[in-house]
Amino acid sequence: MIKFYVLLGPPGAGKGTQAAIIADVCGIPHISSGNIFRENLQLKTELGIKAKQFMDKGELVPDDITIGMVTDRLMKADCSGGALLDGFPRTPKQAEALSDFLSSINAEIACVPFINVEANELIERLSGRWTCKAEGHVFHTKYKLPKQEGICDYDGSPLYQREDDKKETVEQRIRVYFEKTAPLVKFYTEKEVLVEVDGALPIEEVTEALMKVINCQG
Ligand code: AP5
Repeated sequence: MIKFYVLLGPPGAGKGTQAAIIADVCGIPHISSGNIFRENLQLKTELGIKAKQFMDKGELVPDDITIGMVTDRLMKADCSGGALLDGFPRTPKQAEALSDFLSSINAEIACVPFINVEANELIERLSGRWTCKAEGHVFHTKYKLPKQEGICDYDGSPLYQREDDKKETVEQRIRVYFEKTAPLVKFYTEKEVLVEVDGALPIEEVTEALMKVINCQG
């Protein structure tokens, strides 16, 4: 059975940071719905223009748009052996659609690591975050400094602050998370695939915990 992993957690918990490291070390493709929306936004596609209206307000992009976009991506050849999902699913409807899609390709969710971090810490993390233009690698003014200021360590592209990392938008994203996404903790606990990881630990320790959970030797 082909195995997929879903990284669950509030905005700023460290999903993108950890998914990039794990993808690299464990050789699993990292599929981030937020990154796909931002790539479309940069390219000014119809999808990107539609998604921007929701992203700028800290709201979720409607399920029908998001589900189609992610399942199209998961059908690409690089995901034929499984993938690590970051930011999807985010609603019960998306979770059901993902289960149906995976059943149709003889795949399953092997495990859902839930990176848990308290709300007050999330605001500090997001307000100090810098993101790379080319591939969405993330840095932090206090917790993860780039070697050269303003430049991505991985691909040399410029770093920028995300439009939705403004304080009011971050607060709205956290509210939306608790209302719409947090119910997935119960959903995946009932399916016996959820494993909680303490996201308040330093980045390297969270990576270590996640690698154990997904059984990757590195
Ligand atoms: P998306 O891009 O998915 O954003 P998010 O879920 O809000 O998550 P973030 O990227 O903000 O945080 P993260 O958990 O990845 O944290 P990171 O590793 O960067 O989505 C953006 C928008 O797109 C949504 O609001 C929505 O509009 C739309 N969207 C996306 N998917 C959707 C879906 N499925 N349905 C509908 N709409 C969707 O870390 C944050 C900072 O903390 C970094 O600076 C990092 O260096 C630092 N850090 C990380 N770990 C640690 C640590 N352990 N200790 C100290 N600092 C740390």
